[in-house]
Amino acid sequence: MAPLAVNLILGWWLVAASRAQQLPRPSLSLHPSQGVPLGDNITLRCHLPRLAAWVWLYREGGWFYSKGKGKEQDVAEFSFVSTKREHADRYWCQYRVSWSEEASEKSDPVELVLTDLRYPPSSISLHPEQHVGTGTNVTISCWNKDYGATFLLHKDGSSDPLQRQDSSGGDTATFTLFGVTPADSGTYRCSYHPKNYSFLSAPLGDSMTLEVTPSPAPPGAELVSRGNLVVAVVRGCAAVLIFGLGVFFVIDARSLWIRRDESLGGKGIEWH
Ligand SMILES: *[C@@H]1O[C@H](CO)[C@@H](O)[C@H](O)[C@H]1NC(C)=O
Repeated sequence: MAPLAVNLILGWWLVAASRAQQLPRPSLSLHPSQGVPLGDNITLRCHLPRLAAWVWLYREGGWFYSKGKGKEQDVAEFSFVSTKREHADRYWCQYRVSWSEEASEKSDPVELVLTDLRYPPSSISLHPEQHVGTGTNVTISCWNKDYGATFLLHKDGSSDPLQRQDSSGGDTATFTLFGVTPADSGTYRCSYHPKNYSFLSAPLGDSMTLEVTPSPAPPGAELVSRGNLVVAVVRGCAAVLIFGLGVFFVIDARSLWIRRDESLGGKGIEWH
């Protein structure tokens, strides 16, 4: 009897352990997702793939928050009313289905970046000019005064920054868009994280609009298209020839049929 009990306990333990390992990771999101000024409210939502009894929100700065929750919800919300500088940080969440089970893995991190309106917005310039042809290399420079920083290049309509770059020595960063296409047309702006404040951001600066017009095809392309034309004409002729042959055979076959029908059907008639 004893070995059976041991086996049962061992089996239960193995099932519990494997279930703990399989707990899917939660995911964390910010609402609103970006551009929140200091002093505004923000909510972090931990999305739970399984109903959980307890949820934790961790931050890189060390403090963490925990929350017991109703079993029927699949989201745990952590809200900051009137955000402060110290809330700007990197966060993760984690959950526990019940106290008898292991906690889940942590979610991917989310960066709570707050906009500090006291930093002057970044300036922007664009080279060689705002109207360029396809294939041009366009450089966009962003700079500020005295806040040596990590610069971010934004394009209106895209939620995430296109590129980021540390200012090289001075207070300027230069972004290059190699071989632009009409899809690169749009309105660009810069922002920056002040030195030593990775999770604070200056407000978006002035905008610059880039307009990329399709360039006329280069001479090489014309040659290629002439080659294509020749191929097309040859194909067309071949198609007409094949079609003509087909028609000829059909007519030939039909006349053969008619002749056969007449020789079979016109029994009474002499046909010479
Ligand atoms: C764009 O930059 C690349 C890399 O530096 C260079 O190879 C290319 O020639 C440039 N194109 C033009 C049109 O200036």
